[in-house]
Amino acid sequence: MDNLAVIILAAGKGKRMRSGVVKVLHPLLGRPMLSYPLEVCLEHLQPAKTVVVAGHQADQIQNCFTDPRITFVRQDEQLGTGHAVSVTEPVLGDFKGTILILCGDTPLITAQTLLEMVKHHEDQKAALTILTALREDPTGYGRVIRGRRAAGKMHKVVEEKDATDREREITEVNTGIYCVQAPFLFQALGKLRSDNAQGEYYLPDIIEVAHHKKKKINTFSIPDSVESMGINTRAELAQAEEILADRVRQHWMAEGVTIQDTTSVYIESSVRIDRDTVIYPNCYLRGETTIGMSCRIGPQVEICDSQIGDRVQIKFCTMITESRIADDAIVGPFSHLRPQSHLEKGAKIGNFVEVKKSRIGPGTKANHLTYIGDSEVGAGVNIGAGTITCNYDGVQKHRTIIEDEVFIGSNTALVAPVKVGKGAVVGAGTTVTKDIPPHALAVSRARQKSIKKWVMKKGKRKNKERQG
Ligand code: UD1
Ligand code: MG
Repeated sequence: MDNLAVIILAAGKGKRMRSGVVKVLHPLLGRPMLSYPLEVCLEHLQPAKTVVVAGHQADQIQNCFTDPRITFVRQDEQLGTGHAVSVTEPVLGDFKGTILILCGDTPLITAQTLLEMVKHHEDQKAALTILTALREDPTGYGRVIRGRRAAGKMHKVVEEKDATDREREITEVNTGIYCVQAPFLFQALGKLRSDNAQGEYYLPDIIEVAHHKKKKINTFSIPDSVESMGINTRAELAQAEEILADRVRQHWMAEGVTIQDTTSVYIESSVRIDRDTVIYPNCYLRGETTIGMSCRIGPQVEICDSQIGDRVQIKFCTMITESRIADDAIVGPFSHLRPQSHLEKGAKIGNFVEVKKSRIGPGTKANHLTYIGDSEVGAGVNIGAGTITCNYDGVQKHRTIIEDEVFIGSNTALVAPVKVGKGAVVGAGTTVTKDIPPHALAVSRARQKSIKKWVMKKGKRKNKERQG
């Protein structure tokens, strides 16, 4: 949209969050709050210019958003939302089209609403359009004051702190989103005063300026007041996250994913899930995770930045980070796949098994109580319970190589660097310190000694002690 420029206000600290982190960088479903209005703007509205006003922690904000389509403008002192818009004059002063003003703390607003609003503004040839909403509980929002005559035209917005008791009863609120003709905007901003309860230059006061100058003021009402929710407190952050999480779950259910006990399942918006997969309760699916078709995930599973193939089962209480799991693999219950674990087709990782930076070949099984780190494990290998790759010598990490078709007996320690040749067998309880040739049997354990009738002799000794 060439005739459109967008300003997103993000300079405020967000005092009510009581945080060391600036409000717009607080995460919502794994992404900073500000990324939501920015995404709507850059992906759907595609305006001629996108300007973000930053002040508090401006450097951190700029480091988070490096898209070259964004122009950052600094508001060094936060003198109010009106002042925040006025600092964009050096970059937008010559713009002649429509300026859409959004707040960085209103992340639930949808592209559809904004597109409809811009169209309405332009169709009406208004100087100013304000997006308003009806809220059951309007506390904290600026209230919309309409005149009694002339079909209730909007006159101004009164902030909660400046409002009289009667004005506070009004449930129509200002969402903080406006469309303004650019030349009128910068003219009106010059007329704002800060003689109000907060001593700030309020952006909504441009409505009064428009009213006095007899400019056309238009309102656009949002039917779904959830979209207009501004986040000022941690409680509102949690509420907004629940709403976003529900949108994501509804999306995947519509795409053919089954989700049990929906509200206990957390799926970040970057996750992708294929059809006929079932997500059981209490699962956390985060980051750049993709899950294939017909998988069963959970209950109680966390997967982050990982790629899961088709028909994979991830069972109870399993955690997977930055790993790849091929089709038909089974992981869990109680498994931990740490970064760079790569399970090939049909591999099985079971109870209390931890894998790190290792490739596990197709059809290989490590079913119980094992640590596999910095290892290369071939196809069809059987790793017995209690097998440990001793990958760390206190200074450096070393690799273990286990070739195809190897059988490793229970309670084996593989002291890396070490290689077990193809088809070899390692006897239970062995400490492997040297490479094992292919098809060999390696055993290292003290020979068992059985002392005959030892129990009876021990019994006699005890009796004597008691009598003596
Ligand atoms: C604002 C509106 C209120 C509306 C509500 C909707 C004003 C005066 N009030 O109130 O009518 O109902 O939004 O959510 O505009 N900001 C700056 N620089 C500043 C001050 C604020 O960039 O000097 C930014 C903040 O970072 C934030 C946005 O502007 O993203 C809104 O500021 P905030 O303090 O949250 O305003 P509200 O009190 O919510
Ligand atoms: Mg706010």
